[in-house]
Amino acid sequence: MSGTIDSILVENRVFEPTADFIAQAAVPGMDAYRALYDEARDDPDGFWARMAREQLLWRKPFTRVLDESDAPFYRWFDDGELNVSENCLDVHLSNGNAEKTALIFEADDGTVQKVSFRQLHARVCRIANGLKSLGYKKGERVIIYLPMSIEAIACMQACARLGLIHSVVFGGFSTKSLHQRIVDVQASLVITADEQMRGGRAIPLKAAVDTALTEEGTDLVRHVLVYRRSGGQVTWHADRDIWLHDIEAGQADTCEPVAVGAEHPLFILYTSGSTGKPKGVQHSSGGYLLWAKLTSQWVFDAKPEDVFWCTADVGWVTGHTYITYGTMAAGLTQIVFEGVPSYPDSGRFWKMIERHKVSIFYTAPTAIRSLIKAASADPAVHPSNYDLSSLRLLGSVGEPINPEAWMWYHENVGGARCPVIDTWWQTETGGHILAPLPGATPLKPGSCTLPLPGISVDVVDESGQSLPDGRGGFLVITRPWPAMIRTVWGDADRYANSYFPPEMQGFYLAGDSAQRDSDGYYWIMGRTDDVLSVSGHRLGGTEIESTLVAHEQVAEAAIVGRPDPVSGEAIVAFIILKGDLPDETQAIAIAGQLRDWVAREVGPIAKPRDIWFGNALPKTRSGKIMRRLLKIVAQGEEVTQDTSTLENPDTLKQFRGAY
Ligand code: WT7
Repeated sequence: MSGTIDSILVENRVFEPTADFIAQAAVPGMDAYRALYDEARDDPDGFWARMAREQLLWRKPFTRVLDESDAPFYRWFDDGELNVSENCLDVHLSNGNAEKTALIFEADDGTVQKVSFRQLHARVCRIANGLKSLGYKKGERVIIYLPMSIEAIACMQACARLGLIHSVVFGGFSTKSLHQRIVDVQASLVITADEQMRGGRAIPLKAAVDTALTEEGTDLVRHVLVYRRSGGQVTWHADRDIWLHDIEAGQADTCEPVAVGAEHPLFILYTSGSTGKPKGVQHSSGGYLLWAKLTSQWVFDAKPEDVFWCTADVGWVTGHTYITYGTMAAGLTQIVFEGVPSYPDSGRFWKMIERHKVSIFYTAPTAIRSLIKAASADPAVHPSNYDLSSLRLLGSVGEPINPEAWMWYHENVGGARCPVIDTWWQTETGGHILAPLPGATPLKPGSCTLPLPGISVDVVDESGQSLPDGRGGFLVITRPWPAMIRTVWGDADRYANSYFPPEMQGFYLAGDSAQRDSDGYYWIMGRTDDVLSVSGHRLGGTEIESTLVAHEQVAEAAIVGRPDPVSGEAIVAFIILKGDLPDETQAIAIAGQLRDWVAREVGPIAKPRDIWFGNALPKTRSGKIMRRLLKIVAQGEEVTQDTSTLENPDTLKQFRGAY
């Protein structure tokens, strides 16, 4: 862990909610927020029990709320039973919303397909029946490796309906990541597509699955289900491969939901930690869904007539909570987008908001920054060319949003009338933790504001002692909450050690540094570990390093992040080759090969932007790579800091780059 840092905040602008917004809001005004907050703080069990009874449909009512007897392995509502898919779909068939549009899918090429809650329910039931007929049973693990599609959401929901535990792998990852996850969850089923369409190009998916399944440890996989998206060529293994449409054909439109215990794992989602392989974050059924639904309603102020668009992929937690589960349980009409913001041009998002009359738009600062850049280069794709009057709320997630990007978003996209809701949370938290309530919280650009009702957070020093306002420190969550990570799949010790280290006195350690201002507002300063944030995606430096070292020409590798105005951080690799230091021509060629290698093994999102070559990495006397110093070199700057702990301070001068 690095030490604490204090930084000076100069941000005095405050945006109060408008009277119109307050008048219709789910949580109207700061007094309403405080009342909820205090209720939850003073009687947590009573508060959570009330919420869980009001929000969810239980097959068997719970009698216990929070069981802390085996902390930090907390259990919520653990003698209750429910089915998540029933709570997301069936509930809308009997409340008058059956014909309401559940999903509006827009393909990469602009083709649109809509499904109502009734149609989506039927589709999920047919897929679930198909899975049942293949013999899949509650508790088995399913890897989902699909493009953004109605099918991806329907397959996740079909798993939930049967109590199958899914683990979605983002389509931007490839063979090695896929293989690692198949082995780690001991998957018996993989669901994929022939290809995915992004930015006018077809990218193979099934081929990556085929390769992953030739590797060791994948023998438990009985079937590969294939969604035909592009019609592109695939290699077929008749003993194992089945088309998704074939298992759906002839199946009934109804499927009895399987009741599961509230603590039954709903999904496992891998995320990068500071060391070693990615962690399989295990989420529950009851507590997770409760918080996913509640935050959808509170933070997005969801209304029946809203058209909600979260631009995340279901390969990330944002897509799980605010596309597949929470927002669906809340009954919202949602946009599902297959493509990328820059195709066919960088006006795509604005055009889609206009076309589908989107009222709530939730995206990442990296996307906003890239669209600011595009709009200043080409006025034709500036948001002012589009009718964005349907918007009433804007959200941001994934990394700190710099006040200038916040202001641009507020003025140019939101027409200065929409609150900008900056939501801080993590794969592990299951749902929003720090976020404004749009009809209550005065906004400050760049701050994710206050903890939500039911959530207790603090900023502490390295021994877990609370720090005064204005001091930078470690962000911790001091009380358990229903949607919290339950464990790291298959590695309970890692869960306890990484999230509840002894010095933090039982608090959940988020891995971010933060400070609180004199109004109690939180400002996130960044990660305290070696995790990089690239275009809002969390990537572990160590994973990329291991992949590079596995290349036949590489002896050693170190990965650091370099600040980048658009992507947040750019991946920079420092490479020591097995042979001599390459000359210019060789360096260009090898850098290209190494990028291709990382793209093939880990995925295109993990490709290093810059590659530097040298004869040795800077190390401490105990052999630890000094990434802190490499970060300075990566920015093309001279290292002026004290390097006395380095074994050989000259190593910093010998790097050649960047390629
Ligand atoms: C990390 C979690 C939560 C869904 C997407 C990312 C950073 C996330 C914010 C925000 C500042 C943020 C943190 C966090 N982060 N949201 N609003 N302001 N930083 O999930 O991949 O698990 O990454 O993303 O560093 O720890 P994730």
